[in-house]
Amino acid sequence: MRDLFDKIYRDKGPLGKWAAHAEGYFVFPKLEGEISNRMKFQGKEVVTWSINDYLGLANHPEVRKVDAEAGAAYGSAYPMGARMMSGHTDLHEQLQNELAAFVNKEAAYLLNFGYQGMVSTIDALVSKDDIIVYDVDAHACIIDGVRLHMGKRFTYKHNDVESLEKNLERATKMAEQTGGGILVISEGVFGMRGEQGRLKEIVELKKKFNFRFFVDDAHGFGTLGATGAGAGEEQGIQDDIDVYFATFAKSMASTGAFIAADKEIIDYLKYNLRSQMFAKSLQMQLVVGALKRLDMLRTMPELKQNLWKIVDALQSGLKARGFDIGTTQSCVTPVYLKGSIPEAMALVKDLRENYGIFCSIVVYPVIPKGLILLRMIPTATHTLEDVEITLEAFDAIRARLENGTYKRLSAAVTAAMEK
Ligand SMILES: Cc1ncc(COP(=O)(O)O)c(C=O)c1O
Repeated sequence: MRDLFDKIYRDKGPLGKWAAHAEGYFVFPKLEGEISNRMKFQGKEVVTWSINDYLGLANHPEVRKVDAEAGAAYGSAYPMGARMMSGHTDLHEQLQNELAAFVNKEAAYLLNFGYQGMVSTIDALVSKDDIIVYDVDAHACIIDGVRLHMGKRFTYKHNDVESLEKNLERATKMAEQTGGGILVISEGVFGMRGEQGRLKEIVELKKKFNFRFFVDDAHGFGTLGATGAGAGEEQGIQDDIDVYFATFAKSMASTGAFIAADKEIIDYLKYNLRSQMFAKSLQMQLVVGALKRLDMLRTMPELKQNLWKIVDALQSGLKARGFDIGTTQSCVTPVYLKGSIPEAMALVKDLRENYGIFCSIVVYPVIPKGLILLRMIPTATHTLEDVEITLEAFDAIRARLENGTYKRLSAAVTAAMEK
């Protein structure tokens, strides 16, 4: 028999194996200073393109003031206990009502964290006779929610409605045997590549198939739609989304999340969401802070306009310079380059140290081998000057990638990796 830890000593996992070369720099980097378009990395100022503070609320003076006052008034403990037992308050209810109204649903329920909330909502919505059909590129929290499901599940090809339709045919046959129903899950915006889920075409399939539709709109909430209510509003089908989810971790620049749906569905979920029934209530400072942020989303359309001014300048500038930004239809701005992982590391180092640009880097196994994805998140705090500096830096690093500079610079890392 083996020691349980043997596998850990042997193998650090697909990302962990890079730790010796990557930790503290490419992964677990420490960005310092106040959250904004310019922060410090290893003592130097960088233009920061890696923070999901879409509307620039994280460090907005009004938000900071409300957060501080709520912290002083309530501390970080209040209320104690789970919502069901002793952690329920008027302000939790008020926030739910305001969130529901904002996303045009009858009711909403707060979640302590988006990730756990998604896992738990999927778990609560299905029983073993039901069938889940979900996008193969779904966020990890959706995959983990599906993992809890005791019944059948099918994936459909990423954002491919034909593939969804085929899987709905299979799911329908199966549901007829089990006597269960069907849950379809998509993201409103896919956070890595930025394309919107094909929500409008998916809800069209309701005419042909009997299913309920659950949308994780983490990146769409606050950034898309006329009022900022998200991808469903943007595509004109918010009413056809049966359960809507968004996190406070992006546009709201906080912690927490919510689901919204018909009142009867929320009434069911609040008695069946294990991650909320058996966990401490969302702390009051976060509730008060979320009420303030939501008010700003509603009353300050200029925040979203500023965001989109930067998104448009960045995306059109990259395209004009011949960069491949894939199929994004949102603020998420990917730039695809070709190169090995060691080349990607040398390139990002150059970008950070010599050009003062900080963006996230994504490589295999998250994307196919040989591709480098530089992922940028524009925010309302960025300036057109930040965009210009970044475009020039991208031109320079592309030239250095193509003339083999990063191959030479990374030879030592490559040799160490091949040992
Ligand atoms: C698509 C998506 N769903 C869910 C989550 C999880 O939300 P939270 O950070 O509130 O746990 C994230 C990340 O924040 C996300 O990008």
